Amino acid sequence: MAKGTKVVFQYVCQDCGNGSPRWLGKCPGCGAWNSYVQERMETGKGAGSGGYVSKPDSRPVPITEVTDDAGERTVSGIAEFDRILGGGFVPGSVVLVGGDPGIGKSTLALQMLESISRGGAGVLYVTGEESPEQVKLRAERLGVTSPSLLVYAETSLESILERMEELSPAVVVIDSIQAVNTFEFPSGPGSVGQIRECASKLIQYAKTRGTAVFLIGHVTKDGAIAGPKVLEHLVDTVLYFEGGKESPFRILRAVKNRFGSTNEIGVFEMKESGLEEVTNPSEIFLSERPQGASGSVVVPSLEGTRPILVELQALVTPCGMGVPRRTTIGLDHNRVSLLAAVLEKRAGVAISGNDIYMNVPGGVKIDEPAIDLGISVSLASSLFNKPVAPEVVVFGEIGLAGEVRAVSQPELRLKEAEKLGFKGCLLPQINLDRMKSGATALSLLGVRSIDEAVRELF
Ligand SMILES: Nc1ncnc2c1ncn2[C@@H]1O[C@H](COP(=O)(O)OP(=O)(O)OP(=O)(O)O)[C@@H](O)[C@H]1O
Ligand SMILES: [Mg+2]
Repeated sequence: MAKGTKVVFQYVCQDCGNGSPRWLGKCPGCGAWNSYVQERMETGKGAGSGGYVSKPDSRPVPITEVTDDAGERTVSGIAEFDRILGGGFVPGSVVLVGGDPGIGKSTLALQMLESISRGGAGVLYVTGEESPEQVKLRAERLGVTSPSLLVYAETSLESILERMEELSPAVVVIDSIQAVNTFEFPSGPGSVGQIRECASKLIQYAKTRGTAVFLIGHVTKDGAIAGPKVLEHLVDTVLYFEGGKESPFRILRAVKNRFGSTNEIGVFEMKESGLEEVTNPSEIFLSERPQGASGSVVVPSLEGTRPILVELQALVTPCGMGVPRRTTIGLDHNRVSLLAAVLEKRAGVAISGNDIYMNVPGGVKIDEPAIDLGISVSLASSLFNKPVAPEVVVFGEIGLAGEVRAVSQPELRLKEAEKLGFKGCLLPQINLDRMKSGATALSLLGVRSIDEAVRELF
């Protein structure tokens, strides 16, 4: 232990990294139950630090005199992957990729390393979860045969850093960061403290030696990378690997990127021979949708910082007897009732006497005012039994006077729709007025009220 270091015991939430001097049943940070575990912490001068650590003799310098010797980006040759990174790995950058178990993180890492090592660069694959034989089995299936790809089965951070020092590879993959542990930190492998300590040591190494480090992280049941907040903050780029178990398609999404845009997504198809790039992702999305069905509308919804295109489905049927039913799955029940009332009163659509069923396929829950216009259009489409053009997306908030209000980040939503192959968008006129010309290749139709939207579409 370094001089000047003090040891304290603290309870740390294993989901979000929140600390407390005493045990808590429920974490005030993330709301998780029974997630507090006692960890030994070291504080003071000698303790491990997060982020970049400069040389001891460093001084502030004018920005104009800082030399840009970062060097060329290392391109993996997998176009979808390089694009997400903003054009390849920046030397000394640290990328964190997270995803559900079995989604294909190790597959992606191995394929990427093979591609880089084919270009002549030395690469190292550190496996803390599988034996070299297991990695070899996968490599054979994927056709990974490059002799300059080195496999190292190790979980001790000190040994890993020693090998990195000795071999100085261009890119290192750590599969996974939860499996690595350092003896300097006394709590068990996989605990938040260990993850933070190991990651910050690796980051420090990457920044001083110019090695690009690719960390693989497991995702908790809530969809966050375990030990997440601390890691997401420390690394340069955070990528999420998403996709359903039953579907062969996988989406790689940048959540944070210090060296590129975060609006990019990469789409892959999982095959026996590994992940294959999908150059036209709209096909996947549209293939799941019913053709020419009334009541089906696609909305670009913003989930935190991520735009996601989801399909809304409405079924409006005459009410047999008694009080009309309002059943919703994945949407706020009250919101749908309110929008049906606005539709009736402000656009003259006689819907209130009907049973209304609404669904968001795929088990997604969306709770954002920007989908109001989508819900209303979907209801009207089902009632009139007239489908909305399948290549059109819809967004906008609706007020009680029937006015269509502006929503946040319209460009982001349009970009996602464009990326997934849509051709047009129905949006608030105010958003359209504020938008720069040439912001999107989609053909845009602005509306000021729900009445105008219904008249334009049906
Ligand atoms: N023979 C095969 N044919 C097709 N797909 C396969 C085959 N073998 C494995 N897969 C796919 O590869 C996936 C496993 O990939 P991989 O081991 O890279 O995932 P991972 O994200 O690293 O998992 P973990 O979280 O367990 O480390 C499987 O879920 C499956 O979809
Ligand atoms: Mg794996």
